[in-house]
Amino acid sequence: MTKKLRLVVLLSGDGSIFEAIVAAIEARRLNAEILMVISDNPNAYGLTRARLHNLNTQVINAKEYNDKSEFQRALKEALLSLNPDFIVLSGFMRILAADIIQALPKRILNIHPALLPKYPGLHTHERVLAAGDKKHGTTVHFVDEGLDSGPIIGQRELTVLPGDTAESLQQRVKELEKVLYPEVLQCFSEKKYK
Ligand code: GAR
Repeated sequence: MTKKLRLVVLLSGDGSIFEAIVAAIEARRLNAEILMVISDNPNAYGLTRARLHNLNTQVINAKEYNDKSEFQRALKEALLSLNPDFIVLSGFMRILAADIIQALPKRILNIHPALLPKYPGLHTHERVLAAGDKKHGTTVHFVDEGLDSGPIIGQRELTVLPGDTAESLQQRVKELEKVLYPEVLQCFSEKKYK
């Protein structure tokens, strides 16, 4: 028996990984429903992708709030009232307030374009190239109060090739992410993780 996961997705940009999650649901490779797609960016293409799949969308635009804590309060209210099984950060480019994380322990997931614990933060592909690393990849992890530091749930890796650039690595990492994120979520549906 698998559990149908109730998900809320948070995104800030293109949403190609989110789209792969939707595709997995539609192909019945992932037993889940998306209750809401929330973006801090009203122009995020991920919102258009969501609407094309008839999914509910909500914009919580940080620029419309007087300060960061008001924005975080609005986000927290939205998340608590939706009460999903998991909040899926998919290219969400903001740090969540500590009280949001504390209110939803082990229910917030993030995908990060590096083999954590290496390279938390931004510009991961550039940093991999600068370090001359032979391996690179992506990680799904629980969100805790640190920067990309929560417990690791799953990873996929690739070999850095001689001609690779930051752009080519980003593209190839995204292809891995499109497989990894739905897979990890399906494992939760099958209760393979606690
Ligand atoms: C993904 O590569 C994801 O790992 C990264 O943003 C991209 C979103 O792509 N996330 C972070 O960097 C989080 N700090 P998308 O908008 O095409 O789905």
